[in-house]
Amino acid sequence: MQLLDGKVVSQHIKEEIKKQVQELTWAGKRAPHLVAILVGENPASKAYVGSKVKTCAELGFESTLVTYETNVSEDELLEKIIEFNHNKNVDGILVQLPLPKHISEDKVIETIDPKKDVDGFHPVNLGKMMLSLPTFVPATPFGIMLMLQHYGIKTSGMNCVVIGRSNIVGTPMSLLLSRNTEPGNCTVTMCHSKTKDMKALCLEADIIVAAIGKPKFVTADMVKEGAIIIDVGINRIESTETKSGFRLVGDVDFDNVAPKCSYITPVPGGVGLMTICALMKNTLLANLNATK
Ligand code: GUN
Repeated sequence: MQLLDGKVVSQHIKEEIKKQVQELTWAGKRAPHLVAILVGENPASKAYVGSKVKTCAELGFESTLVTYETNVSEDELLEKIIEFNHNKNVDGILVQLPLPKHISEDKVIETIDPKKDVDGFHPVNLGKMMLSLPTFVPATPFGIMLMLQHYGIKTSGMNCVVIGRSNIVGTPMSLLLSRNTEPGNCTVTMCHSKTKDMKALCLEADIIVAAIGKPKFVTADMVKEGAIIIDVGINRIESTETKSGFRLVGDVDFDNVAPKCSYITPVPGGVGLMTICALMKNTLLANLNATK
């Protein structure tokens, strides 16, 4: 079994991005600028946005963090997004999801200028992705593709099961892995809450992407010998072994599944780090497009 190490791969990609940013500034161009908008007190969202802002600094990007209390009105949020849409010094805008119930996520996403939608969630960008046109690919699936590419994993002809059908991960992941690309060219089955006999489908899979948000959902009896396991889950569970009283586990029962696999991503230290890296690549791309 080989670990797909998000630390190693993300470090490698970040070094490449850093060099490109240095070249931009040496050429008298401005560095990429990401705006992150956080609404409310969700601890996971705060942690993710914090990591994104920190990574911007590490890579020489400019970043602006805007925080709102949970009760901010939808109109105020939309007005702020429009202001950033018009700001020529801003390349990327992301609004951390989920949002409080009184704010429409669809409206928020559709208000972001597609050219600045570095999350790749805008319908225009998802449509372009479906047509294999150049666009911003959502960060988690993009990060997983970068990881498979880095390890030279040839996926052509493989059976792939994607567990979860979210707009952010499961749906774009299924599409990317089924396309005529390398990595790609898989026969993809997308599983969800109404899927019958998920275990039988998983046992046929050469690759399983688990993105369902349920701790240790994929167990060893669901996994074929030699399968590749990509664990997207980041679940906080209570633990008596840590000071904080909780620890992070994935959607895969790592300890029991790992011995059966050819490759597996750890949690933490796997897909999560790749997601941030992919977001940074998208932000650099937005900057390059804007300053062409
Ligand atoms: N919430 C969970 N994942 C993401 C992400 O990739 N982008 C945003 N904006 N919100 C998220």
